[in-house]
Parts: sequence; structure tokens; C-alpha cells
Amino acid sequence: MSRSLCQITDFSTAEIKEVLDLCERMKTGKEAPKPLAGKSVACVFTKESLRTRVSFEVGISELGGQPVYITGKEIKLGERETVADAAQVLSRYVGLIMIRTFAHSDVEELAKYATVPVVNGLTDLVHPCQILGDYFTMREHLGKRDKYAVAYLGDGNNITNSWLNLAARLPLDIRVGTDGDCHPDADLVAQAKANPDSSVLITDDPKEAVQGADVLYTDVWASMGQKHLVEEKERKLKKFQINSALLEEAGPKAIVMHCLPAERGKEITNEVMDSSRSVVFDEAENRLHIQKAIMAFLLK
Ligand code: CP
Ligand code: NVA
Repeated sequence: MSRSLCQITDFSTAEIKEVLDLCERMKTGKEAPKPLAGKSVACVFTKESLRTRVSFEVGISELGGQPVYITGKEIKLGERETVADAAQVLSRYVGLIMIRTFAHSDVEELAKYATVPVVNGLTDLVHPCQILGDYFTMREHLGKRDKYAVAYLGDGNNITNSWLNLAARLPLDIRVGTDGDCHPDADLVAQAKANPDSSVLITDDPKEAVQGADVLYTDVWASMGQKHLVEEKERKLKKFQINSALLEEAGPKAIVMHCLPAERGKEITNEVMDSSRSVVFDEAENRLHIQKAIMAFLLK
């Protein structure tokens, strides 16, 4: 078993800071490690992707390696053979495994039996690369601070859970504005609350969530694998839309973030997404930089 990133809490606070600092040095060109020289990386996708696939493939090339794209239809993880067997086979060919899939337990099983690092590129539970990259983006835009106030508006999903995951390790004031039926994972809420330097508020009042927040964050109301719930989620979550009126409640300095892809006009208006307060495309770019740093850290 090698070091892996299944969720953010797999890294200590010091390790997260190390990855963020390495990301900064790599993005600014101060360091250009090639830990994947002569190696391949398995990129397993059982869900669709734009950012994760392209940023990983480009990042792997920039670290000297070669990506091998594998779809869910081919690998049939846990169906053609056990996850443990697939982990051991892949480890004989590649230097690292990146996987995007549904069940978080499959990623943990893969990491348990692989002899190379495994990086989670999104599960139903969490999306660690996204939130580590978003924290880096937040730091770039707001400057390095001891603590940030992040208001997440919408569905309590893998993105919300990853903010909570980060709050368990770094000081964050997390406010989740959501419907009573769409709360984030209870265990991850408890872990975040257990960090005395962080605070967690879960409220059904979007205005309460955004008061004094540094960041307003949202994501699609119905995630991949939940598209059958789209009407129900829309009904329950429409009052949490990030629009100009809600942004005004947050104060003049708050920035707006979205992991993308966005359903414009639903969880976020065009006006806000295209405004100067929005940093959504910087977030997308930073996926490349943070994932390079994560891979370099795990391979060192
Ligand atoms: N944010 C993100 O992970 O985008 P993709 O689903 O396009 O990879
Ligand atoms: N919550 C979304 C994130 C996409 C990057 C989903 O899982 O579909």
C-alpha cells in the first residue's frame, strides 16, 4: 500500500500546506519536477468529465509521464474482477492510478490493494482535487489568511463534503445554505466540527449563510448519478441560487466560485458567473496545477 489521496483528510495539515506551497512553486515555474518520467498513469473514468480528464492528462505529460485513459465500460470495476485484483494488475503497469467513479468505497479498496498511489478524481462522497485547487485559488485571490469564511449554497454533495473535509484540517468558517433534505454527510460534518479552529453552520436561510462570507460557492443541484432527481432538487434548492441580490448580501469583497460544469440560470445566474467577482475559470486552471503538485507529492 502506497500513500494515496482518497479524501483530503488522508493528508495532515502540514502535508496540505506542503502541497499548496509546492503548487505555488510549480505554477510559477520555480520547480518543474518530472517524477513520472518513463512511467504511465491509469486514468479510470466511470463518469463523464471535461476538467478532470484533460487537466490530469496534461498534468501527467508535464510531469514526464503518459496517461492511459480507461472507461468504466472496459474496466467494469468490481464486475469483471474484484477491485483488489484490478488494483494489483494496474500496479504492475503504471506509476499512479487516478480514478473517477460512483462508490467511494471502490476508491478506498483500490488504494488498499494498489502498490502505487491512487488519486480520487471524484466519487459520490468527495472531490478532493477540486477543493484543494479551490483553496489554492481562494488564497491567490484573497491573499494568504489564517481563516476564510466560505458560504456553500445548494446541494449538500461531494463538493460540500470536501469543504467539510478541508475544514477538518485547516481553519475554515463553513456555512452551508441548503434544504433540510439535502444536507452534507453527517460524519464529515462531525469531523469538521471537531476541529476547534473551524466552525460549521448548516442553515436553510441563504442570507444567513452568506453574511460576511469571503467566498460564495455553488455546484449543480443534481450531481452525476442523480439526474433523475433533477426536478425534486430544483424545487428544494431554487431559493439558494447565487444571484446578484444574494451576492449583495455577502458584502462588496466576496468572490464567487463554482467547480463547473455549471447549469447557468439554475444554481448561478449568468450575471454573477460572468461578473468580475467570479473566479470560476481560475479554479478550472488551478486543477492542473494542484493535481501536478498532488502527484509530485505522492511520488516523492
Ligand atoms: N469540476 C470537475 O471536476 O469538472 P469535470 O466533471 O468536467 O471533470
Ligand atoms: N457535484 C458534481 C460535481 C461535478 C464536478 C457531480 O458530482 O456531478
